[in-house]
Amino acid sequence: MFYEPKDGHGLPHNPFKAIVAPRPIAWVSTLSTDGVANLAPYSFFNAVADAPPMLMISSSPVPSNEDKDTLRNILDTGEFVVHVVPHAMRDAMNVTSGGYDHNDDEFRRAGLEKAPSTLVAPPRIADAPVAMECRHHVNLGLPGQDGVRGSHVIFGEVVGIHIADAALVDGMLDVTRYNPLARLGYKDYTTVRELFALDRPKV
Ligand SMILES: Cc1cc2nc3c(=O)[nH]c(=O)nc-3n(C[C@H](O)[C@H](O)[C@H](O)COP(=O)(O)O)c2cc1C
Repeated sequence: MFYEPKDGHGLPHNPFKAIVAPRPIAWVSTLSTDGVANLAPYSFFNAVADAPPMLMISSSPVPSNEDKDTLRNILDTGEFVVHVVPHAMRDAMNVTSGGYDHNDDEFRRAGLEKAPSTLVAPPRIADAPVAMECRHHVNLGLPGQDGVRGSHVIFGEVVGIHIADAALVDGMLDVTRYNPLARLGYKDYTTVRELFALDRPKV
């Protein structure tokens, strides 16, 4: 089949997110200006540079046209923390994707313990194997469609990185120790359990 997204796909569900898969999941903590902690998963996410390390997350529009809490808090405070979701914490991650009130702390909702960050104000998840402390770099508004406003892409610089000692083997991060979760299409997820290596061409 071929379709132009502006004309619709004619399938029971939109296949786009199933095509671009698996996608890593940023589990993002922020603080509101009132000091309320917020935590939510974002799979429109990736690393975009490594010197200095930079990453992006994209916040989709909601019917009310209000900013999601994560976007609002990052624009208000300029700081956020991105965690990688281990397979063992998948249910807690899912709990934090609920559309709770701005004053609702998703750490508490999901029963997650907070740990202080080192360089930024938002707390991190104490039990997460990896946490990246970020400062907002730039915000890019994407075009909307059918009269609905577009997504907002946040680029951030990673200014501090926590790695649990248990995730390091011989000085290398061993993802098979925590099995990071990734998003597929529809309601599907996958996790990393197997690795293989490739040598790059020497030319
Ligand atoms: C695995 C997963 C990935 C998600 N990825 C995104 C995303 O990339 N962008 C987005 O706007 N919402 C995404 N969502 C939905 C948000 O997590 C959800 O709207 C949440 O309520 C936002 O919380 P906040 O208002 O506290 O930021 C995702 C949900 C799940 C379960």
